[in-house]
Amino acid sequence: MLSFLKPIFKLQFLFVILAVIVGVYYQEILAWHKNFIFTTEAEIPINYESDKQIAETLFTKAELAKYNGENGAPLYLALLGDVFDVTKGLKHYGPGCSYNFFIGRDASVSFITGEFENFVEDEADDVVVLKLNDLLGLENWKNFYHKDYAYVGKLIGRFYDNSGALTSYHHKFLALLDQAKQEKIESDRSRVSYPDCNIQWNAETSQTRVWCTNSSGGKERDWAGYPRKLFELGRDTFRCACVHQDKLDATDVMIKSYDNCEPLATECFYKVD
Ligand code: HEM
Repeated sequence: MLSFLKPIFKLQFLFVILAVIVGVYYQEILAWHKNFIFTTEAEIPINYESDKQIAETLFTKAELAKYNGENGAPLYLALLGDVFDVTKGLKHYGPGCSYNFFIGRDASVSFITGEFENFVEDEADDVVVLKLNDLLGLENWKNFYHKDYAYVGKLIGRFYDNSGALTSYHHKFLALLDQAKQEKIESDRSRVSYPDCNIQWNAETSQTRVWCTNSSGGKERDWAGYPRKLFELGRDTFRCACVHQDKLDATDVMIKSYDNCEPLATECFYKVD
């Protein structure tokens, strides 16, 4: 007599099964749904040849060279592989202006050397040959461009491959940059205990004078110290440091006296051959 209810019970049974399946595979269903509905452009694999969006972001050397301000083109430059639109700095970068050299290319090395004429194009962005300390200078320039100008993309070559990923050269650069930062921290620390000397070169005698005062090295203190050659770890050169009397025999750094200079003299003279 209640046979008309049978299909409803069957349907109810199906709903229960469905609810159990959804409960068990909830996470998987959610992930699939997210992918299906919310696939953004950024998640679409890069196709440099055919994707206009990406073509605007990744530049070949030849493409970058076209952004040189000619025929109404904007002014672009690259630094460490990052490309910036510097059109608003026309007075610096425009044709005939002081820094037009940087336009349409990555000449990162010249940001340090200041060499704008004699350079080899293929080596203009080979920055790992620079001193570690110079890499910090390059990072400062890069931060400057990111702050003051519009970042427009990446240059395919030394720092980015043709899919925009970091090259092994780029990783090497970043490792050296970390090393440079570490050395800077250590050097700053060392300058607190061993401030720099005053240094003056005399063209007539070709002699260099080094001496210590209560403010040499930019560190105000109630002692002047004695000039010594100070060799820091990992560096093959020395700097002139003012050493406090109590630290003349210190062993945390390598300290050497200047030749022909009395142990407690407050100034020393030397000649560089
Ligand atoms: C390694 C050497 C040098 C490099 C790579 C260099 C690079 C630059 C660059 C790229 C700019 C433009 C910054 C911007 O977009 O606002 C600039 C600006 C300027 N540079 Fe140099 N420069 C160097 C040396 C010098 C020297 C030796 C002087 C002075 C004797 C100098 C004086 C100036 C001045 C006055 C400005 C304009 C600042 C302003 O108007 O905001 N630069 N420099």
